[in-house]
Amino acid sequence: MKLLVTGGAGFIGSNYIRHVLSAHPDCQVINIDNLTYAGNLENLNDVKSSPNYSFVKGDICDRKIIESLKFDAIVNFAAESHVDRSILDASPFLQTNIMGTHNLLEIARQRDCIFLHVSTDEVYGSTEKGFFSEDSPLQPNSPYAASKASSDMLVRAHVETFKIRAMITRCSNNYGAYQFPEKLIPLVIINALNRKPIPVYGDGMNVRDWIYVADHCRAVDAVLHSGRHGEVFNIGARNEMPNIEIIKLLLKKLAWRLDQNEDELLRLITFVKDRQGHDRRYAIDPSRIERQLGWKPQMSFEDGVSKTIEWYISNKQWWQRINSKEYMQYYDAQYGERLKK
Ligand code: NAD
Ligand code: TYD
Repeated sequence: MKLLVTGGAGFIGSNYIRHVLSAHPDCQVINIDNLTYAGNLENLNDVKSSPNYSFVKGDICDRKIIESLKFDAIVNFAAESHVDRSILDASPFLQTNIMGTHNLLEIARQRDCIFLHVSTDEVYGSTEKGFFSEDSPLQPNSPYAASKASSDMLVRAHVETFKIRAMITRCSNNYGAYQFPEKLIPLVIINALNRKPIPVYGDGMNVRDWIYVADHCRAVDAVLHSGRHGEVFNIGARNEMPNIEIIKLLLKKLAWRLDQNEDELLRLITFVKDRQGHDRRYAIDPSRIERQLGWKPQMSFEDGVSKTIEWYISNKQWWQRINSKEYMQYYDAQYGERLKK
Protein backbone atom coordinates (compact mmCIF):
# COMPACT_ATOMS: atom_id res chain seq x y z
CA MET A 1 0.00 0.00 0.00
CA LYS A 2 1.12 3.57 -0.75
CA LEU A 3 -0.11 5.84 2.01
CA LEU A 4 -0.34 9.61 1.94
CA VAL A 5 -0.12 10.84 5.55
CA THR A 6 -0.96 14.52 5.94
CA GLY A 7 0.40 16.48 8.90
CA GLY A 8 2.97 13.75 9.54
CA ALA A 9 5.48 16.19 11.04
CA GLY A 10 3.14 16.95 13.95
CA PHE A 11 2.65 15.09 17.22
CA ILE A 12 0.27 12.25 16.33
CA GLY A 13 1.18 12.08 12.62
CA SER A 14 4.87 11.47 13.38
CA ASN A 15 4.02 8.77 15.93
CA TYR A 16 1.68 7.20 13.35
CA ILE A 17 4.33 7.16 10.60
CA ARG A 18 6.79 5.48 12.98
CA HIS A 19 4.11 2.89 13.80
CA VAL A 20 3.28 2.18 10.13
CA LEU A 21 6.91 1.81 9.07
CA SER A 22 7.56 -0.77 11.75
CA ALA A 23 4.20 -2.60 11.62
CA HIS A 24 3.94 -2.78 7.79
CA PRO A 25 7.37 -3.13 6.17
CA ASP A 26 5.71 -3.39 2.72
CA CYS A 27 3.95 -0.02 3.07
CA GLN A 28 5.28 3.15 1.42
CA VAL A 29 4.57 6.35 3.32
CA ILE A 30 4.53 9.84 1.83
CA ASN A 31 4.32 12.55 4.48
CA ILE A 32 2.92 15.88 3.29
CA ASP A 33 3.20 18.73 5.77
CA ASN A 34 3.59 22.47 5.30
CA LEU A 35 5.53 22.77 8.57
CA THR A 36 3.50 25.27 10.54
CA TYR A 37 4.72 26.25 14.03
CA ALA A 38 3.59 22.74 15.14
CA GLY A 39 5.31 20.81 12.33
CA ASN A 40 8.81 19.60 13.10
CA LEU A 41 10.86 17.25 10.94
CA GLU A 42 13.00 16.41 13.98
CA ASN A 43 10.02 14.31 15.10
CA LEU A 44 10.97 11.89 12.32
CA ASN A 45 14.78 11.88 12.60
CA ASP A 46 14.89 8.15 13.32
CA VAL A 47 12.90 7.16 10.23
CA LYS A 48 13.83 9.84 7.70
CA SER A 49 16.29 7.62 5.82
CA SER A 50 13.96 4.64 5.59
CA PRO A 51 13.54 3.60 1.92
CA ASN A 52 9.78 3.37 2.58
CA TYR A 53 9.46 6.99 3.72
CA SER A 54 9.46 10.28 1.82
CA PHE A 55 8.62 13.85 2.77
CA VAL A 56 6.97 16.54 0.66
CA LYS A 57 6.70 20.08 1.99
CA GLY A 58 3.25 21.18 0.95
CA ASP A 59 -0.13 22.48 1.99
CA ILE A 60 -3.21 20.22 1.95
CA CYS A 61 -5.07 23.15 0.38
CA ASP A 62 -2.76 23.00 -2.66
CA ARG A 63 -4.54 20.74 -5.18
CA LYS A 64 -1.65 20.63 -7.69
CA ILE A 65 0.98 19.35 -5.28
CA ILE A 66 -1.26 16.54 -4.04
CA GLU A 67 -2.31 15.61 -7.57
CA SER A 68 1.37 15.18 -8.43
CA LEU A 69 1.73 12.34 -5.85
CA LYS A 70 0.89 8.64 -6.24
CA PHE A 71 -0.95 6.88 -3.38
CA ASP A 72 -3.80 4.45 -2.66
CA ALA A 73 -5.04 5.89 0.64
CA ILE A 74 -4.98 9.15 2.58
CA VAL A 75 -4.77 9.43 6.38
CA ASN A 76 -5.59 13.03 7.21
CA PHE A 77 -3.92 14.31 10.39
CA ALA A 78 -3.07 17.80 9.06
CA ALA A 79 -4.88 20.44 11.07
CA GLU A 80 -4.63 23.47 13.24
CA SER A 81 -5.09 21.67 16.54
CA HIS A 82 -5.00 24.02 19.53
CA VAL A 83 -8.24 25.35 21.05
CA ASP A 84 -6.62 28.44 22.63
CA ARG A 85 -5.19 29.52 19.27
CA SER A 86 -8.58 29.06 17.62
CA ILE A 87 -10.02 31.50 20.18
CA LEU A 88 -7.33 34.06 19.30
CA ASP A 89 -7.80 33.65 15.52
CA ALA A 90 -10.03 31.06 13.86
CA SER A 91 -9.12 31.79 10.22
CA PRO A 92 -6.23 29.32 9.81
CA PHE A 93 -8.49 26.66 11.38
CA LEU A 94 -11.18 27.24 8.79
CA GLN A 95 -8.65 27.27 5.98
CA THR A 96 -6.73 24.09 6.84
CA ASN A 97 -9.31 22.05 8.73
CA ILE A 98 -12.25 22.73 6.40
CA MET A 99 -10.89 23.81 3.01
CA GLY A 100 -7.89 21.48 3.27
CA THR A 101 -10.14 18.51 4.02
CA HIS A 102 -12.47 19.51 1.18
CA ASN A 103 -9.49 19.54 -1.18
CA LEU A 104 -8.35 16.07 -0.09
CA LEU A 105 -11.89 14.72 -0.42
CA GLU A 106 -12.10 15.95 -4.00
CA ILE A 107 -8.85 14.16 -4.80
CA ALA A 108 -10.01 10.98 -3.01
CA ARG A 109 -13.16 11.12 -5.15
CA GLN A 110 -11.27 11.57 -8.43
CA ARG A 111 -8.87 8.74 -7.61
CA ASP A 112 -11.35 6.46 -5.83
CA CYS A 113 -8.86 6.07 -2.99
CA ILE A 114 -9.52 5.34 0.69
CA PHE A 115 -9.78 8.40 2.93
CA LEU A 116 -9.36 8.17 6.69
CA HIS A 117 -10.22 11.41 8.43
CA VAL A 118 -8.70 11.84 11.90
CA SER A 119 -11.13 13.80 14.02
CA THR A 120 -11.73 14.49 17.69
CA ASP A 121 -14.23 13.87 20.49
CA GLU A 122 -14.48 17.67 20.81
CA VAL A 123 -16.99 17.69 17.93
CA TYR A 124 -19.64 16.29 20.34
CA GLY A 125 -19.27 19.20 22.73
CA SER A 126 -19.43 18.93 26.50
CA THR A 127 -21.56 16.71 28.72
CA GLU A 128 -22.01 16.62 32.49
CA LYS A 129 -22.96 12.94 32.49
CA GLY A 130 -23.02 9.88 30.23
CA PHE A 131 -20.86 9.14 27.18
CA PHE A 132 -21.01 10.24 23.57
CA SER A 133 -21.53 7.50 21.00
CA GLU A 134 -20.82 7.84 17.29
CA ASP A 135 -24.51 8.68 16.82
CA SER A 136 -24.55 11.58 19.29
CA PRO A 137 -25.27 14.96 17.71
CA LEU A 138 -22.31 17.19 16.88
CA GLN A 139 -22.39 20.24 19.17
CA PRO A 140 -18.94 21.83 18.92
CA ASN A 141 -18.25 24.76 21.23
CA SER A 142 -14.81 26.11 20.28
CA PRO A 143 -13.80 27.42 16.85
CA TYR A 144 -11.35 24.48 16.67
CA ALA A 145 -14.10 21.95 17.39
CA ALA A 146 -16.45 23.69 14.95
CA SER A 147 -13.85 23.48 12.18
CA LYS A 148 -13.30 19.77 12.86
CA ALA A 149 -17.08 19.11 12.98
CA SER A 150 -17.40 20.91 9.64
CA SER A 151 -14.77 18.67 8.10
CA ASP A 152 -16.51 15.59 9.54
CA MET A 153 -19.74 16.78 7.87
CA LEU A 154 -17.93 17.19 4.56
CA VAL A 155 -16.58 13.63 4.80
CA ARG A 156 -20.10 12.37 5.52
CA ALA A 157 -21.46 14.34 2.55
CA HIS A 158 -18.85 12.86 0.21
CA VAL A 159 -19.68 9.33 1.39
CA GLU A 160 -23.41 9.89 0.90
CA THR A 161 -23.22 11.84 -2.36
CA PHE A 162 -20.22 10.39 -4.17
CA LYS A 163 -19.90 7.01 -2.40
CA ILE A 164 -16.25 7.61 -1.60
CA ARG A 165 -14.55 5.04 0.64
CA ALA A 166 -14.06 7.13 3.77
CA MET A 167 -13.97 6.58 7.53
CA ILE A 168 -13.86 9.03 10.43
CA THR A 169 -12.12 8.47 13.75
CA ARG A 170 -12.93 10.64 16.78
CA CYS A 171 -10.28 10.32 19.44
CA SER A 172 -10.04 11.71 22.95
CA ASN A 173 -7.09 13.78 24.30
CA ASN A 174 -3.72 12.27 23.37
CA TYR A 175 -0.45 12.47 25.28
CA GLY A 176 3.03 11.06 24.73
CA ALA A 177 6.37 11.79 23.05
CA TYR A 178 6.70 14.70 20.57
CA GLN A 179 3.59 16.58 21.76
CA PHE A 180 3.96 20.32 21.17
CA PRO A 181 4.64 22.20 24.46
CA GLU A 182 1.46 24.31 24.24
CA LYS A 183 -0.73 21.32 25.22
CA LEU A 184 -1.50 20.57 28.88
CA ILE A 185 0.70 17.54 29.67
CA PRO A 186 3.96 18.70 28.03
CA LEU A 187 3.34 22.24 29.29
CA VAL A 188 3.15 21.00 32.88
CA ILE A 189 6.27 18.84 32.53
CA ILE A 190 8.35 21.54 30.82
CA ASN A 191 7.22 24.35 33.15
CA ALA A 192 8.00 22.16 36.16
CA LEU A 193 11.46 21.36 34.80
CA ASN A 194 12.00 25.11 34.24
CA ARG A 195 10.44 26.05 37.62
CA LYS A 196 7.88 28.22 35.83
CA PRO A 197 4.29 28.74 37.03
CA ILE A 198 1.82 26.11 35.80
CA PRO A 199 -1.37 27.81 34.58
CA VAL A 200 -4.58 26.01 35.55
CA TYR A 201 -7.68 27.33 33.81
CA GLY A 202 -10.70 28.03 36.01
CA ASP A 203 -11.13 25.66 38.96
CA GLY A 204 -9.09 22.84 37.39
CA MET A 205 -12.10 20.52 37.51
CA ASN A 206 -12.64 20.27 33.74
CA VAL A 207 -12.52 16.64 32.72
CA ARG A 208 -10.75 15.17 29.70
CA ASP A 209 -10.51 11.55 28.60
CA TRP A 210 -6.81 10.69 28.04
CA ILE A 211 -5.22 8.15 25.69
CA TYR A 212 -1.58 7.29 25.03
CA VAL A 213 -0.62 8.32 21.49
CA ALA A 214 0.62 4.84 20.46
CA ASP A 215 -2.80 3.38 21.32
CA HIS A 216 -4.44 6.02 19.10
CA CYS A 217 -2.04 5.16 16.25
CA ARG A 218 -2.85 1.44 16.46
CA ALA A 219 -6.55 2.29 16.41
CA VAL A 220 -6.20 4.47 13.28
CA ASP A 221 -4.33 1.64 11.60
CA ALA A 222 -7.03 -0.86 12.54
CA VAL A 223 -9.71 1.41 11.06
CA LEU A 224 -7.67 1.98 7.88
CA HIS A 225 -7.21 -1.74 7.27
CA SER A 226 -10.46 -3.22 8.62
CA GLY A 227 -12.99 -0.43 9.20
CA ARG A 228 -16.19 -0.47 7.19
CA HIS A 229 -16.33 2.37 4.67
CA GLY A 230 -18.67 5.16 5.70
CA GLU A 231 -18.29 4.27 9.40
CA VAL A 232 -17.36 6.55 12.32
CA PHE A 233 -15.26 5.18 15.21
CA ASN A 234 -14.77 6.74 18.62
CA ILE A 235 -11.28 6.06 20.01
CA GLY A 236 -10.78 6.36 23.74
CA ALA A 237 -9.22 4.61 26.71
CA ARG A 238 -12.02 5.12 29.26
CA ASN A 239 -9.69 7.28 31.28
CA GLU A 240 -11.42 10.44 32.45
CA MET A 241 -9.60 12.78 34.80
CA PRO A 242 -10.00 16.34 36.06
CA ASN A 243 -7.11 18.58 34.97
CA ILE A 244 -5.95 19.37 38.50
CA GLU A 245 -5.62 15.66 39.31
CA ILE A 246 -3.42 15.09 36.25
CA ILE A 247 -1.29 18.10 37.10
CA LYS A 248 -0.76 16.88 40.67
CA LEU A 249 0.05 13.36 39.45
CA LEU A 250 2.62 14.71 36.99
CA LEU A 251 4.25 16.87 39.67
CA LYS A 252 4.33 14.00 42.15
CA LYS A 253 6.00 11.71 39.61
CA LEU A 254 8.45 14.43 38.58
CA ALA A 255 9.40 15.12 42.21
CA TRP A 256 10.06 11.42 42.75
CA ARG A 257 11.98 11.05 39.47
CA LEU A 258 14.15 14.13 40.06
CA ASP A 259 14.50 13.51 43.78
CA GLN A 260 13.02 16.90 44.57
CA ASN A 261 10.62 18.32 47.11
CA GLU A 262 7.05 17.63 45.98
CA ASP A 263 5.59 20.66 47.80
CA GLU A 264 8.01 22.95 45.98
CA LEU A 265 6.73 21.69 42.62
CA LEU A 266 3.09 21.83 43.77
CA ARG A 267 3.60 25.51 44.62
CA LEU A 268 4.07 26.19 40.89
CA ILE A 269 0.35 25.53 40.34
CA THR A 270 -1.28 28.86 39.51
CA PHE A 271 -5.01 29.20 38.95
CA VAL A 272 -5.65 31.63 36.08
CA LYS A 273 -8.65 33.10 34.30
CA ASP A 274 -10.71 30.40 32.62
CA ARG A 275 -10.60 29.68 28.89
CA GLN A 276 -13.59 31.26 27.11
CA GLY A 277 -16.29 28.67 26.45
CA HIS A 278 -14.21 26.04 28.29
CA ASP A 279 -15.89 22.65 27.78
CA ARG A 280 -16.52 21.04 31.18
CA ARG A 281 -16.27 17.38 30.31
CA TYR A 282 -15.43 15.17 27.32
CA ALA A 283 -16.34 11.50 27.53
CA ILE A 284 -16.81 8.99 24.73
CA ASP A 285 -17.92 5.41 24.44
CA PRO A 286 -15.31 3.46 22.41
CA SER A 287 -17.18 0.16 22.36
CA ARG A 288 -17.77 0.15 18.57
CA ILE A 289 -14.06 -0.07 17.71
CA GLU A 290 -13.51 -2.57 20.54
CA ARG A 291 -16.36 -4.77 19.35
CA GLN A 292 -15.96 -4.50 15.57
CA LEU A 293 -12.18 -4.35 15.24
CA GLY A 294 -10.99 -5.97 18.47
CA TRP A 295 -8.90 -2.90 19.33
CA LYS A 296 -8.13 -2.10 22.97
CA PRO A 297 -5.74 0.37 24.57
CA GLN A 298 -2.57 -1.29 25.86
CA MET A 299 -0.99 1.46 27.95
CA SER A 300 -2.21 2.29 31.46
CA PHE A 301 -2.34 6.01 32.32
CA GLU A 302 0.23 5.60 35.14
CA ASP A 303 2.76 3.91 32.83
CA GLY A 304 2.03 6.22 29.89
CA VAL A 305 2.56 9.31 32.01
CA SER A 306 5.83 7.92 33.44
CA LYS A 307 7.08 7.13 29.92
CA THR A 308 6.09 10.61 28.75
CA ILE A 309 7.88 12.31 31.65
CA GLU A 310 10.98 10.23 30.89
CA TRP A 311 10.84 11.26 27.22
CA TYR A 312 10.67 14.99 28.00
CA ILE A 313 13.55 14.66 30.49
CA SER A 314 15.69 12.82 27.93
CA ASN A 315 14.78 15.12 25.02
CA LYS A 316 15.41 18.58 26.46
CA GLN A 317 17.06 19.74 23.25
CA TRP A 318 13.91 18.89 21.29
CA TRP A 319 11.68 21.16 23.37
CA GLN A 320 14.33 23.82 23.99
CA ARG A 321 14.62 24.30 20.22
CA ILE A 322 10.82 24.45 19.96
CA ASN A 323 10.68 27.15 22.61
CA SER A 324 11.32 29.33 19.58
CA LYS A 325 10.50 32.95 18.99
CA GLU A 326 7.04 32.23 17.56
CA TYR A 327 6.06 29.90 20.38
CA MET A 328 7.44 32.19 23.11
CA GLN A 329 5.53 35.13 21.62
CA TYR A 330 2.37 33.05 21.74
CA TYR A 331 3.15 31.84 25.26
CA ASP A 332 3.81 35.36 26.57
CA ALA A 333 0.64 36.70 24.94
CA GLN A 334 -1.41 33.85 26.36
CA TYR A 335 0.01 33.74 29.87
CA GLY A 336 2.27 36.78 30.41
CA GLU A 337 -0.11 39.01 32.34
CA ARG A 338 -2.17 36.21 33.83
CA LEU A 339 0.84 34.59 35.47
CA LYS A 340 2.47 37.74 36.86
CA LYS A 341 2.41 37.47 40.62
P1 NAD B 1 -0.23 19.02 15.69
O1 NAD B 1 -0.65 20.45 15.78
O2 NAD B 1 0.85 18.52 16.58
O3 NAD B 1 0.21 18.68 14.20
C1 NAD B 1 -0.48 19.14 13.08
C2 NAD B 1 0.43 18.98 11.86
O4 NAD B 1 -0.30 19.39 10.69
C3 NAD B 1 1.70 19.83 11.92
O5 NAD B 1 2.82 19.07 11.52
C4 NAD B 1 1.42 20.95 10.90
O6 NAD B 1 2.60 21.47 10.30
C5 NAD B 1 0.54 20.23 9.90
N1 NAD B 1 -0.31 21.14 9.13
C6 NAD B 1 -1.08 22.16 9.61
N2 NAD B 1 -1.69 22.79 8.59
C7 NAD B 1 -1.32 22.15 7.45
C8 NAD B 1 -1.62 22.34 6.07
N3 NAD B 1 -2.45 23.32 5.67
N4 NAD B 1 -1.06 21.52 5.16
C9 NAD B 1 -0.21 20.52 5.57
N5 NAD B 1 0.11 20.30 6.85
C10 NAD B 1 -0.44 21.11 7.79
O7 NAD B 1 -1.58 18.19 15.89
P2 NAD B 1 -1.79 16.75 16.53
O8 NAD B 1 -2.04 16.88 17.99
O9 NAD B 1 -0.74 15.83 16.03
O10 NAD B 1 -3.19 16.36 15.86
C11 NAD B 1 -3.24 15.68 14.61
C12 NAD B 1 -4.69 15.43 14.22
O11 NAD B 1 -5.35 14.68 15.23
C13 NAD B 1 -5.52 16.71 14.07
O12 NAD B 1 -6.36 16.55 12.97
C14 NAD B 1 -6.31 16.80 15.37
O13 NAD B 1 -7.53 17.49 15.16
C15 NAD B 1 -6.53 15.34 15.67
N6 NAD B 1 -6.71 15.01 17.08
C16 NAD B 1 -5.79 15.43 18.01
C17 NAD B 1 -5.95 15.09 19.35
C18 NAD B 1 -4.94 15.50 20.40
O14 NAD B 1 -5.16 15.26 21.58
N7 NAD B 1 -3.80 16.09 20.03
C19 NAD B 1 -7.06 14.33 19.74
C20 NAD B 1 -7.98 13.92 18.76
C21 NAD B 1 -7.78 14.26 17.44
P1 TYD C 1 -5.41 21.13 25.90
O1 TYD C 1 -4.17 20.31 26.06
O2 TYD C 1 -5.30 22.50 25.32
O3 TYD C 1 -6.46 20.24 25.10
P2 TYD C 1 -8.04 20.50 24.81
O4 TYD C 1 -8.41 21.87 25.19
O5 TYD C 1 -8.09 20.29 23.33
O6 TYD C 1 -8.77 19.45 25.58
O7 TYD C 1 -6.08 21.30 27.33
C1 TYD C 1 -6.49 20.19 28.12
C2 TYD C 1 -7.22 20.71 29.34
O8 TYD C 1 -6.28 21.44 30.16
C3 TYD C 1 -8.32 21.71 29.01
O9 TYD C 1 -9.40 21.53 29.92
C4 TYD C 1 -7.68 23.08 29.23
C5 TYD C 1 -6.70 22.80 30.35
N1 TYD C 1 -5.46 23.62 30.33
C6 TYD C 1 -5.06 24.29 31.49
O10 TYD C 1 -5.72 24.24 32.55
N2 TYD C 1 -3.89 25.01 31.44
C7 TYD C 1 -3.13 25.10 30.32
O11 TYD C 1 -2.09 25.82 30.33
C8 TYD C 1 -3.56 24.41 29.13
C9 TYD C 1 -2.75 24.49 27.87
C10 TYD C 1 -4.73 23.67 29.20
